[in-house]
Amino acid sequence: MTIELAQLIDSRFAQIMGPEGVAKFAEQGLAFFSRQRGPEELAHLFAIFRVGEHHAVVTIGQWLKSTSELEVKDGYARLIWDEARHTRIWTQRMTELVGEDRVERFYPDPTKVTAPSAEYFRLWDEYAKADGLAKRLAYIYVVDAWAGFAYTAYISYIDPVTKWHLETILADERFHVAFGQKMAEKYVTSPQDRETIAREEEKIVTILRNVTDGFLRSEV
Ligand SMILES: [Fe+2]
Ligand SMILES: [Fe+2]
Repeated sequence: MTIELAQLIDSRFAQIMGPEGVAKFAEQGLAFFSRQRGPEELAHLFAIFRVGEHHAVVTIGQWLKSTSELEVKDGYARLIWDEARHTRIWTQRMTELVGEDRVERFYPDPTKVTAPSAEYFRLWDEYAKADGLAKRLAYIYVVDAWAGFAYTAYISYIDPVTKWHLETILADERFHVAFGQKMAEKYVTSPQDRETIAREEEKIVTILRNVTDGFLRSEV
């Protein structure tokens, strides 16, 4: 599978960051991801990734009931399944790295892990609070594009087995970004909703900048 970045580069997230911002983000990401890590450190890093994947399963699951647009509901159903699979993939890799006993002992709960910054958890709290289609779609396409960039930066540095899984995850995240943006173009059309989505995008990008800075300053 080849990594086609075009969809991420064309994303709203990349537009908001601007070409220089994206280049800086990718460069900083390389420094972070090229760091040497042993199995315990990798398991910890994957547990951090898993928080977001698992969070998306639960939160988008909660959104289903209050979503009336059938097309969006249909997409949410796929997203829930994809994110559940991503959660399982990271758990599987953690188990392969440190063994089932240690995963059960140190990472029994996919919502809990020591993360480099409190902003990381704030991101998921805000995501869960998004009410209405405009805000929810913004979370889907902005956060997944951010994750897509991070995963792409990581892909050159990981072992072949994790790489293979990551390529599957990345293909899904690209679909999520495209789905979120397409639905926003179609259903978020009133001037009031357009303003809501623009404000939410800005808020999410600010949180993501803080989350990224927190990771880069950390020892993780
Ligand atoms: Fe995911
Ligand atoms: Fe996703």
